[in-house]
Amino acid sequence: MPSYLVTGASRGIGLGIVTKLLKNRRTSWSPPCAIRRLTASRSWDEYPKTHLPSSSSILRLRQHREGRRRAAKVLPDGLDHLINNAGVSFQEGASFETIDLRVFEEELRVNTVAPIEVVRQFLPLVRKSAVKKVVLVSTIISSLELAPNLSTLAITYGITKAGLNILARKWAAVLYQEGITTVTLHPGWVETDLGVTIKDWWAKRNPDLKPISVQQSAEDVLRVIKEAKLEEKIKLYSHTGDVLPW
Ligand SMILES: NC(=O)c1ccc[n+]([C@@H]2O[C@H](COP(=O)([O-])OP(=O)(O)OC[C@H]3O[C@@H](n4cnc5c(N)ncnc54)[C@H](OP(=O)(O)O)[C@@H]3O)[C@@H](O)[C@H]2O)c1
Repeated sequence: MPSYLVTGASRGIGLGIVTKLLKNRRTSWSPPCAIRRLTASRSWDEYPKTHLPSSSSILRLRQHREGRRRAAKVLPDGLDHLINNAGVSFQEGASFETIDLRVFEEELRVNTVAPIEVVRQFLPLVRKSAVKKVVLVSTIISSLELAPNLSTLAITYGITKAGLNILARKWAAVLYQEGITTVTLHPGWVETDLGVTIKDWWAKRNPDLKPISVQQSAEDVLRVIKEAKLEEKIKLYSHTGDVLPW
């Protein structure tokens, strides 16, 4: 079974992906996942280890460098899928006039800068694998083309993810030469801590639009990743498999 490493796996979509992978597991192998810290609502004892042969199959990776060393030990054939899922949105309702610039810097650090560090650290393991896929979880809110329609929605978040997209497109062209597929995707509007913050915005503009479940998103995301092909070059996929405008 191909291997996966998922960042931001303590809750939300990352936790959904890991849970789905564990349910699908046919062999005794399980995915390492990177968890920064367990949230107050979910202790390590509650983490879904029921499908695991032993709790040691899940790695709690607190630092990327240490994480790579530990992941390398359990992944002798390399890392097939590196899923950069961790992300934040701290000021969804702010306008250009009210954005807190210091908070914006933190959003940029987590959403745009940190993925470079994550990919750098785990790239040697990805190179060693058979599948060789690097996934960067983005959002439809990052689309330059759709920006005028979503102009007041999560401005800083959208900018940080647009930055992630350009880094993904540039890096993908280099990684392509080595046979590494880079996938950028929008996981859907999902009912998570991050997703619920934009509920009021959508309720005012399109009350019929409802968020999808974490389970649905995880299922869709894993299908899109599986179907993405090196020769298609990099695209911004929706969780439905449709291609979104950059
Ligand atoms: N939900 C949506 O509707 C939606 C839509 C489009 C795109 N996305 C994207 O999907 C991804 C997952 O979002 P989500 O909705 O599942 O969010 P979430 O429920 O808020 O979970 C975010 C995850 O990222 C981790 N994280 C946050 N800051 C971190 C940091 N500084 N270092 C390491 N890990 C950190 C969190 O860990 P802790 O528990 O330790 O804080 C948590 O595991 C994000 O990249 C987001 O932009 C979400």
